Amino acid sequence: MKTLIISLLSLISFASCHSEPSDTLSLKEAYGDKFLIGVAMNQRQSSGLDRVGAETVSRNFNSIVAENCMKSEKIHPMENLYHFEPADSFVAFGEANGMAVIGHCLIWHSQCPKWFFVDSEGKRVSADELKRRMRDHITTVVSRYKGRVHGWDVVNEAILEDGTYRRSPFYEILGEEFIPLAFQYAHEADPDAELYYNDYNMHLPAKREAVVRLVNSLKERGLRIDAVGMQGHMGMDYPSMDAFERSMLAFASAGVKVMITEWDMSALPTVSRSANISDIQGYKRALDPYPDGLPDSVSDVWNQRMKAFFELFLRHSDIVSRVTVWGVSDGDSWKNDFPIHGRTDYPLLFDRHHEPKPFVIDLCDHKRDDK
Ligand code: XIL
Repeated sequence: MKTLIISLLSLISFASCHSEPSDTLSLKEAYGDKFLIGVAMNQRQSSGLDRVGAETVSRNFNSIVAENCMKSEKIHPMENLYHFEPADSFVAFGEANGMAVIGHCLIWHSQCPKWFFVDSEGKRVSADELKRRMRDHITTVVSRYKGRVHGWDVVNEAILEDGTYRRSPFYEILGEEFIPLAFQYAHEADPDAELYYNDYNMHLPAKREAVVRLVNSLKERGLRIDAVGMQGHMGMDYPSMDAFERSMLAFASAGVKVMITEWDMSALPTVSRSANISDIQGYKRALDPYPDGLPDSVSDVWNQRMKAFFELFLRHSDIVSRVTVWGVSDGDSWKNDFPIHGRTDYPLLFDRHHEPKPFVIDLCDHKRDDK
């Protein structure tokens, strides 16, 4: 009964939201004065192929980040070949809509082409050669969008959960030095652009401490770092809000802003390795339990948890400079294919029909009533 009432209420508020659009605040109208409200765009959206997706973006968000088209394997697939077109139209979309455009990402071990680390004979390049390639890559990409990209994720995912450095080829060839070098090259290419370190599972204490040490060491060397990006890929049972908040406060105390850069919350069960896989059909159902829609009971919990996190970000709006969700609508989300391919997930602010989720409507209505 309770879920029926809640569903009816959300239907009513949803109906009013759509019959009187002028009366309903969009997310950026409601909260754009607190921090940037961002979203990751895929190429279909930024090129205009997905018109509905693009409209959802321009109506609701004031910042965009490229989901894939600026990653090194896409924008620099071969040593002497840059592929700028998709990134050009992404940046143009942001400019046309007066948005803060975020570049993602300059140095990341993943979605990085193999040529970066080997010579023409397939042997690992020297430290000097890798520095040269990093400088060429960063300088070329950052200079192209100089003055047009508000900020860059300079280094992505370099630290592991236990606080040690990831053994990526960048680390193996250059050691810890690859991080300050990347920040230096990016700053030289566009001195006015903001620069960020971005990573996931940032609520874990050892990782939190390692990132604080990294921020301190960059600052001690006089390098620019404006913010730490906490990706914010969440589940129904992790992270705890308390641990997440501690990390936000720890990064702010280190003298940088905090950004929630890739926010989403999977509504699906966390993958268990101990499942009984002799029952293949049962196992599949357990992993992908809601192919035809999210039950109200799960949706209620999901909406409450998302709302509580958004309210946490609002409480700390003095230190949070941007909250960006990782995708426009549920149908666009990478979580449908990660960590298991072909599931149906519900992790974003807009459903598969681009309708706002109940907690978004709630937050926006609450703000409108305040005004
Ligand atoms: C993901 C994209 O969403 C997918 O489309 C792509 O296939 C893989 O990468 N951390 C990051 C993002 O920093 O770049 C990743 O994006 C998700 C995890």
